[in-house]
Amino acid sequence: MEKSTWLATPNIAVVKYWGKRDSALNLPYNGSVSVTMDEAVSTRTTVEFDARLSHDLFCLNGKAARPEETVRVSRVLDAVRKKAGIKTRAKVHSENNFPTAAGIASSASGFAALACAAADAAGMRAGSASLSRFARMGSGSACRSVIGGFAEWKKGVKADGSDSYAVQIAPASHWQKLRNVIAITDAGRKLIGSDLGMQMTVQGSALYKERLRKMPALIRGMKHAILACDLPSFLSLAMKESSNMHAVMLDSTPPIVYLNDISYAIMRAVHEFNAQQGKVAAGYTFDAGPNAHVYTAERHAKAIARMLEGIKGVKKTIVCRPGNGPRRLPEKEALF
Ligand code: PMV
Repeated sequence: MEKSTWLATPNIAVVKYWGKRDSALNLPYNGSVSVTMDEAVSTRTTVEFDARLSHDLFCLNGKAARPEETVRVSRVLDAVRKKAGIKTRAKVHSENNFPTAAGIASSASGFAALACAAADAAGMRAGSASLSRFARMGSGSACRSVIGGFAEWKKGVKADGSDSYAVQIAPASHWQKLRNVIAITDAGRKLIGSDLGMQMTVQGSALYKERLRKMPALIRGMKHAILACDLPSFLSLAMKESSNMHAVMLDSTPPIVYLNDISYAIMRAVHEFNAQQGKVAAGYTFDAGPNAHVYTAERHAKAIARMLEGIKGVKKTIVCRPGNGPRRLPEKEALF
């Protein structure tokens, strides 16, 4: 069997996944919509199946990974092995081109690169739906990172998860002028992992039911805004949706709070910017952490970056474009 190396990038949801109907298979209660990032931020992963191994080996950024990280890697490898009809264990090395604790989630890019490299190393010619399902076994949001450009994760209804995977809404080239200005406000690991946070919300929040009720219409509206490159609608929906997710988090018992004072200062600054422009020209979204992703048009990206860097507590900004999704790297770029 061959060694295979792939590069993948994170994605940022503008309609978010929060809540699992099956936590073993990472099946969501609602669909979600995201933009895959360009290679400003990426993960490179090399996989080799080796008959001499008695268990999977996983190295992250040059060091043996923690056992719980290796378990998640094995879940993706198990899904690939099952489909390929093999039992061979694998050696996996993965490296982020950004510090893992930089406040940028590396799980989506990591598991997407792993799914692609593992399927390839196993000699499979897997389509995007299979790759998306493999990546989903590592972390739910990773299933959208195997798709370039704009992706929709179809929640699916089947108990085995076979209809729960991401599809492309439009390629990156469809909306080249869209920019995501990332503001890093906190480099620490999150206090409550998304798995536990989701359980607390599903069990404890009455508002969550209302969130799910409105989801199908929101997803339709967001897809429409993307297909029409309608920036004000895209931004307005993204901001409302981000706040809605953080509202159901706060409505959990005990309340889950991922945003901090700097996040709120960013929200205020974006609304002031829009008021000055006389239109909605920028819009934020926050995942399970305090770092902001501020979407805007190319012509405003520099001004937004300057504005964000002027906010006390913002450590750094990174400007991203929509990206093309995972790609195979030549053998000389393998990590071992
Ligand atoms: O895939 P996970 O378990 O890392 O959960 C991700 C959840 C959010 O980032 C908050 C939302 C999303 O859809 O990416």
